[in-house]
Amino acid sequence: MEKFIIYGPSKRVNGEVYISGAKNSVLGLLASSLLFEEPVVLSNVPFVKDVFTMIKLLKSLGSKVQINKKKNFLKIYNKKKLKSFVSYDLVKTMRAGVLAMGPLLGKLNKCKVALSGGCALGVRPINFHLKGFSKMGAKYKLNKGYVNISARRGLKGKVYNFPKITVTGTSNLIMSAVLSKGKTILKNIAIEPEIIDLINFLKKGGAKIYFLKKRTIKIIGVKSLKSVNHSVVGDRIEAFSYLCVAAITKGKLHVRNIDPKFLKKEIQILKKIGCKINSINNSIIIEGGKQIKPVNLKTSAYPGFATDNMPMLMSVLCIANGRSQIKETIFENRFMAVPELNRLSASIEVKNNKAYISGKKQLYAAQCISSDLRSTFSIILGCISAKGKSQVDRIYHGLRGYFEPENKLKKIGIKIKKIN
Ligand code: EPU
Repeated sequence: MEKFIIYGPSKRVNGEVYISGAKNSVLGLLASSLLFEEPVVLSNVPFVKDVFTMIKLLKSLGSKVQINKKKNFLKIYNKKKLKSFVSYDLVKTMRAGVLAMGPLLGKLNKCKVALSGGCALGVRPINFHLKGFSKMGAKYKLNKGYVNISARRGLKGKVYNFPKITVTGTSNLIMSAVLSKGKTILKNIAIEPEIIDLINFLKKGGAKIYFLKKRTIKIIGVKSLKSVNHSVVGDRIEAFSYLCVAAITKGKLHVRNIDPKFLKKEIQILKKIGCKINSINNSIIIEGGKQIKPVNLKTSAYPGFATDNMPMLMSVLCIANGRSQIKETIFENRFMAVPELNRLSASIEVKNNKAYISGKKQLYAAQCISSDLRSTFSIILGCISAKGKSQVDRIYHGLRGYFEPENKLKKIGIKIKKIN
């Protein structure tokens, strides 16, 4: 099994990092390609593990996918007749498999999709997706780990108010509504940059989607979508991960191919802990402060501080000059990196949904194990600042969403190697 070996504490990083396309955007775009009968071309595609899993899922339904890894693009051709069954094998490692439901229901009026169930972050229910589909006239049954859902006479546009903001729930309802009959109004939607990317992509294909308010959209159903050529937005979570590399090593980095607007709240926090930030054309220049100052924050839906970015900030705060507090409000189990960071001699205490981090002068190397995507990068950050040779096991979690992190890190001066 692949592992990372990291030697720390790292000297100040220096140089530039090119950010890949957003994993959580491309997964939605790939799923929504099922709605198209004409070819779809995506560029700036991050070829990470989850993307290959989603491609496998599309192929199992009958799509043809042509990949150009060197140029980071892919082309999808859909058969007129797609299959409507998504097996457990395809969704068990990737929660985003749930995204097949919206487009299949919208296009074929039925589907049977395996529930991806719980994961390291917690229960991850889809009740608000299902409630929305029901509102539009679909009926569903849960049986043996599958959700069987159909709308015999097709979905009909309705008003649906999400009881709670959900990212994949919003994507699913949008995808189900673009080809449905009539007018759909979705209220209290997620407005993460990846959702806006999905809306822009579908609009290019001829979908009629209009913002009425900050979190309310109107969708008028159309008969079909036309061919689209689209570049995936930059990955704000990957970008923040590298900003944290600069912060923890007190180095200087030019982080390219990311819209600084996507990280407004995160940039505020980085400034609070002592970093200097300069946002320019689609890139961010960061210079870590001499001392890292403690900070208190809570995670929330976009435009708040992203739950996905929290584990990386937590690692930086492990060597802050004082005590910080983080409140996690999205997932019940987002502190998976804590035992590993503490193994690196950090001092973090978790009580309910709060983590209390007492900054230490120095962390010390250890053998660690990663257990979810974002905690992998959080542990890498800990190892980068720890004295000695550390090892990170089970890095496949991280490779689900980060494109070649070892190469990007090596290029800026981190002593890291991937071994089998
Ligand atoms: N929720 C419900 N019922 C639902 C849907 C959600 O109770 O029907 C709850 C969840 O349990 C959670 C909250 O609502 O407490 C928000 O969950 P959300 O549905 O927004 O999460 P998601 O759509 O499953 C996406 C990203 C996650 C990211 C979250 C939050 C994708 C593929 N996944 O998940 O990304 O953490 O939004 O921003 O887009 C990652 O990339 O590492 C990752 C986990």
